[in-house]
Amino acid sequence: RNLWLQYDLVTDPVVLRTYKEQLNAVDIRSAALNKQVIQDELQTGILSMLGKHLSFTSSNAEVVIAKLKDLDANEKQQVSKTPKLESDGYIIKTIPKGSKDVILISGLSDNSLLYGTFHFLRLLQLHESLSDLDLVENPKLSIRILNHWDNLDRTVERGYAGFSIWDWHHLPGLIKKEYIEYARANASIGLNGTVLNNVNASAYILQDEYLDKVKALADVFRPYGIKVYLTARFSAPIEIGGLDTADPLSSEVQRWWKDKADEIYNLIPDFGGFLVKANSEGQPGPNNYGRSHVEGANMLADALAPHQGVVMWRAFVYSDEKPEDRAKQAYTEFIPFDGEFKDNVLLQVKNGPIDFQPREPFHPLFSGMQKTPLMMEFQITQEYLGGMSHLVFLPQLFEETLQSDTFIKGKNSTVSKVLVGDLSGQKVTGIAGVSNIGTARNWTGHPFAQANWFGFGRLAWNPDLSAKAIAEEWLKMTFSTDPDFVEPMSTLLLNSREAVVNYMTPLGLHHIMAEGHHQGPGPWVDGLAREDWTSVYYHKADSLGLGFDRTASGSDALSQYGTEIEKAYSKIETTPEKYLLWFHHVPWDYKLKNGHSLWYNLARHYQDGVLKVEDMISTWEQMQPYVDEYVFRQTQMLLNIQLKESKWWRDACLLYFQQFSNMEMPAFIPHAK
Ligand code: GCU
Repeated sequence: RNLWLQYDLVTDPVVLRTYKEQLNAVDIRSAALNKQVIQDELQTGILSMLGKHLSFTSSNAEVVIAKLKDLDANEKQQVSKTPKLESDGYIIKTIPKGSKDVILISGLSDNSLLYGTFHFLRLLQLHESLSDLDLVENPKLSIRILNHWDNLDRTVERGYAGFSIWDWHHLPGLIKKEYIEYARANASIGLNGTVLNNVNASAYILQDEYLDKVKALADVFRPYGIKVYLTARFSAPIEIGGLDTADPLSSEVQRWWKDKADEIYNLIPDFGGFLVKANSEGQPGPNNYGRSHVEGANMLADALAPHQGVVMWRAFVYSDEKPEDRAKQAYTEFIPFDGEFKDNVLLQVKNGPIDFQPREPFHPLFSGMQKTPLMMEFQITQEYLGGMSHLVFLPQLFEETLQSDTFIKGKNSTVSKVLVGDLSGQKVTGIAGVSNIGTARNWTGHPFAQANWFGFGRLAWNPDLSAKAIAEEWLKMTFSTDPDFVEPMSTLLLNSREAVVNYMTPLGLHHIMAEGHHQGPGPWVDGLAREDWTSVYYHKADSLGLGFDRTASGSDALSQYGTEIEKAYSKIETTPEKYLLWFHHVPWDYKLKNGHSLWYNLARHYQDGVLKVEDMISTWEQMQPYVDEYVFRQTQMLLNIQLKESKWWRDACLLYFQQFSNMEMPAFIPHAK
């Protein structure tokens, strides 16, 4: 239950002795809002890791925690050469004081002291040296937020870890311990916001009864630096306001939202703002009144602006009317509005142009929409990646998107640089992760899904961190720092994402999951209400070949990526094989780089995925000494489910595609004929 905040007793006697000598007293000098939280966290962490109590005093302390303005003259001088700090940024620096060294944790804001404290504790969790510290950290993104797809009846859309942790029925009276643990966990990785309700929203969350409950949560989260946001249903003025329209140009609608914003800020002065899913998958929006996304978003932005709130307007749209390749539609719809949104609007864009697949190229809006603040939306819950049953380390996927080159300002114009504003100077920046948290005793269902929550948070703070570094940190903080555990297990984590791509959707295949719930294979799915909900729409298997032609001879989605990528990917030979069937319809006997046919390679990838899961199982079998018995058994059983399902995916997909390829199953496929 403690996630990565296990604070295990330091077992190495030398390290333990050194830490114990170095840490006796802490001086928390600034009267920060979260002073008590900082003190409690240090006491809990140090007691648990070192088996000793700290004293909190201003005399002779080895650690000083204070805002920059509260440092004494000597301390100020010692940190005068520090690079510029952002409001949430901090330094951890060893400075001489009299005859001894003191560790200074400092920054500009209350939150910076909290983040610095968690980083300091992390150093101990990782058994790092506490001597000669000189660390400066600034978050690269300002809104670092979880999106809960939680409904008011506590079901969770695409949630695989039980019910919603928000117990609306008992709020605001009952404040559960989980809320505090949740806030601690988020603060420890630098997350600073949470959207409490589903993007497919009920308007009732905006009614006063619910707002009192939201306020109670906001009060719990405030000392942890976490702001509360809500999804606003566009038709709320009708559903709970008694109006007969939600037209964004109607003055009574505008007034209604202004009054609603005032009411919310009256209760929650630091309320973050609204997330909106409009005119997408049946949700209401400005298009219902012949108005545009800009008119809708700007109307809400005006209501929030006096209170410094933001609107996070989602770009996940694919319209009913235009029979265009779904991968193109968000771009087509939003590009004409570039530069027209108010300053407090961010456009929240999913990582890829379809929908949270095991692998997608980056969303072309990240290169196309250069005058609008863009927010990344990742999905931490594994809607298309095995729900809670498969072990998949998602930071690998996130890293791939963040480090993709958009080429908008020449080579090395990565998506991460777009997001942080290095290429366009956007004023507000942000990143959102669709939460995988629920009432499961371990928060996330699969014990290893905790790593994805952790990894998302670490990348939200610094989108250029490597998946490898994140894997090592998480393993050490959660289980053990023993290299015999950390090394094989980080290899396992880092291989897990390619494994799932291979046994589900290799070589650029996508959206061939079972209908509706999206778990398990379903390449045969056809004849649904919408053509672009079916699998056959995406893989386009026929007697000639496999894959979606998105070049100029097909849907031309490729042209949305700009000339460099278009040039490189317009030919099969120069398209990276990982995106081959995303962009091309490839003949079954076409020879890939290894000299074997597409059909052979497809089979090879499916089989490799299965073999990778077998490797994961044999690595895990060796790990029993390092983890508790229950986690060991639970993970072992889940890995066996994953193995069974990987074979199911392989067999189902290959047998299905074989009817089109009409080629023999390669001999390495078990039971091949
Ligand atoms: C996917 C998902 C839906 C969700 C939607 C969204 O389509 O299956 O459950 O509502 O994404 O992101 O809005």
